[in-house]
Amino acid sequence: MRFRLCLVVAYVFFSSILEVTAASSQGTETNVSTFVYPTGDGNLTFALTATNGGDVYMHLSAPATYQWVGIGTGSKMEGSVMFIVYENADKLSATLSPRLSDGHSEPTYSSSVDCDLFNQTSDHGGIVQKGSSRYYSVNIHCKNITAHGEGDGKLDFSNTKQPFIYAWGPTDGAVSSASKSASIKRHDSYGTLWMDLAKATSSNSDINATFTEAALLTTQNAGADGQAQSDGDKVGPAHAVIMLVTFVIIFPLGALLLRFLESVKAHYIVQTVGLLAAVVGIAVGLYLGTMYNHSKDVSSGHQVFGLILLILLLAQWAIGLYHHLRFRKYKRPTIYGRVHLFAGPAIVLGGIINGFTGFNFSGDSHNNVYYGAVVAVVIIVVLALLGWKRWSKNKQAKHSRMLDDEELHEGSYQMNASHGASY
Ligand code: HEM
Ligand code: HEM
Repeated sequence: MRFRLCLVVAYVFFSSILEVTAASSQGTETNVSTFVYPTGDGNLTFALTATNGGDVYMHLSAPATYQWVGIGTGSKMEGSVMFIVYENADKLSATLSPRLSDGHSEPTYSSSVDCDLFNQTSDHGGIVQKGSSRYYSVNIHCKNITAHGEGDGKLDFSNTKQPFIYAWGPTDGAVSSASKSASIKRHDSYGTLWMDLAKATSSNSDINATFTEAALLTTQNAGADGQAQSDGDKVGPAHAVIMLVTFVIIFPLGALLLRFLESVKAHYIVQTVGLLAAVVGIAVGLYLGTMYNHSKDVSSGHQVFGLILLILLLAQWAIGLYHHLRFRKYKRPTIYGRVHLFAGPAIVLGGIINGFTGFNFSGDSHNNVYYGAVVAVVIIVVLALLGWKRWSKNKQAKHSRMLDDEELHEGSYQMNASHGASY
């Protein structure tokens, strides 16, 4: 009898423990879908829970070494509703920027996407310290989210495999802004994931209980079909390298060749190569501009001045050629030659200055230190070489005048009008 009583007590005790465990695991597993991805610098964690009433609550955390981190609805950028997080100017909190995307360019902030940060405690204050690393860590609350997005970018709460995209920015240059429409750079890496939204949707509105540490630890009710793809902006560097090499190396080289080889042909070939490179570089710049909100309408000083320089370069090339043809015909200096001579250095200097404004425009102004050092060395070397050439030519001319005088005295003077470059 005593033994049976013990069994009954033990049964009641253990079954009540089992019920509590089942209830608490239901609390985390059935109401939350969580995706955890190891980025290489730390985990990117995205968790979501929704209420039948249409409220969506999300948690997003990722290493703050990235300029930004973003989650988007759907399987591709086009038609996606994006939740992008970056560092605020105070470096302690994060800015949430809800954006809409229409394709392969910077998504645009939309005030009509009703999303805000919520429950930003000391633990989820935007930026938190985990060990020796800083992490973005935010909780996001959105209302009426299904009013936005196109195609599979429109959330379907009954979808057991709702696609999402994730991406993170480059590791250089924090945004440091509270503006929701601040410029962000193209991703360092991106990928896709899926979530069981049916399992993440319930009538439970006790969100604080839902985003427990346990619920954010591992992937549940979610997954990914592949790894993140490495991207990285190659268009910006291509534009910068082509333009800088053209203005800092090719054009000055063309000028030096005219003086040192005294060859118009060498000058003409090198400056034509420079002009073609500038045309290609500017075409790349125009394409680059379509990717970012701050450059889409081609109205920035950098772009407008760059296009004016292109027109001046084309004119400079044509004037140089016209002068040369006239000089060959009439064997005397022309006004076109003088214009070409003065406009050349001015245009090249303008292009070099536009390099500085380019780095400021793209948010890479720290590069201006290195660029400035290279420019200073090139300018000093070019001026020194041109100065030396002029000095040695003057000396030679003086010397040959003296010889001519002596020869004249001896009565054997021969006039030679064809020395020097025919420019
Ligand atoms: C300045 C901002 C951005 C720019 C300029 C940009 C540009 C691009 C470009 C050019 C591609 C095509 C890459 C290729 O095919 O080689 C692409 C793909 C992709 N991007 Fe972005 N992106 C930006 C922001 C974002 C954000 C915030 C996310 C996610 C939250 C994202 C997610 C993706 C994904 C998942 C793909 C591959 C799927 C697709 O083709 O749409 N992007 N992006
Ligand atoms: C003399 C002519 C030019 C020079 C020397 C030049 C040089 C540069 C440099 C060095 C950068 C910084 C790139 C980076 O940080 O990755 C830049 C950025 C840029 N350039 Fe130019 N550029 C010139 C003309 C143009 C023109 C004509 C356009 C378009 C009409 C243009 C469009 C852009 C854009 C859109 C960016 C910034 C993109 C971003 O936000 O990251 N550039 N340029």
